[in-house]
Amino acid sequence: MSAQQMEDSARALVAPGKGILAMDESLPTIKKRFDAISLESTEETRRAYRELLLTTPELEEFISGVILFDETLRQSTRDGTPFTSVLRDKGITAGIKVDAGAKPLAGHPGEKVTEGLDGLRERLAEYRDLGARFAKWRAVITIGDGIPSDACLEANAHALARYAGLCQEAGLVPIVEPEVLIDGDHGIERCFEATEATLRRVFDELYRQGVTLECTLLKASMVLSGKACPRQAGVQEVAEQTVRCLRRAVPGAVPGVVFLSGGQSAERATAHLNAMNAMDVAHPWPLGFSYARALQEPALKAWEGSDANLPGAQRALYHRAKLNSLARQGRYDEEMEKAAA
Ligand code: 13P
Repeated sequence: MSAQQMEDSARALVAPGKGILAMDESLPTIKKRFDAISLESTEETRRAYRELLLTTPELEEFISGVILFDETLRQSTRDGTPFTSVLRDKGITAGIKVDAGAKPLAGHPGEKVTEGLDGLRERLAEYRDLGARFAKWRAVITIGDGIPSDACLEANAHALARYAGLCQEAGLVPIVEPEVLIDGDHGIERCFEATEATLRRVFDELYRQGVTLECTLLKASMVLSGKACPRQAGVQEVAEQTVRCLRRAVPGAVPGVVFLSGGQSAERATAHLNAMNAMDVAHPWPLGFSYARALQEPALKAWEGSDANLPGAQRALYHRAKLNSLARQGRYDEEMEKAAA
């Protein structure tokens, strides 16, 4: 894929009113999600769940791309249609999570670095052959006593930039995801500082590694109060601080910023996105969504692993995707939560 084609793909992923469904849970993470509905995680239950999500009627009205896990990219519907064909027929772009997870950073207790660069060139070539057109790599940054450290920011930014360079070499649009975690009792100010430092470091490394920003999407975490902080910032404050932080650190050449939900409730993630898009503050990139939990949770709960609940679960996913599409346009209202899913 040429640079122009990659840029067109990146822009299509953040087209007006559209967002990305992240359904790239690794084996340990999907097990955790299934544990919550008392369902065993097997290759077949994972396949059935992902089929439910991907075959949701009219999902393409609001979803431009989906991020898959290695296993999922290779799976098919019960009647034998490859998931990639289902997506192609809907005009939804297939993406793939390519990192190998966050591992403890040596010498830095409480901090992590994401692994997965070894053999990545070969894996990317295979993923492209299988139909993927974009990729995702997630770094995690923890806020705590004396952290994030400079070493942690550096190691993660470097890995993200190396990954992004390899993606573009392979003709895949890289989604660069440095997630500042919500865990901790810190106030929103500390989250702002850590997010700004993280983003500045990431874009510095992208520049050093020769990554083309026009062909890159940023997946960002919102600027929030720590989960255990006694003072929780309100919706408007989160929206203002997040946009202020992004304006400081994200170059205008980036075609779009999509948010992760990071442990916020589905409703809250939508309200925050809406407030940002409703605000009268100029920013050069569209602000969209690439949620996993905030899109999937209501559907997963409605499903409970039973075929009989499939239509209700698909309606729940459709409903969440629709509300987030409205939030992208600043047209969401809490009242819409009451509408039957
Ligand atoms: P959440 O929206 O559940 O945070 O997940 C997004 C994601 O892709 C994490 O890497």
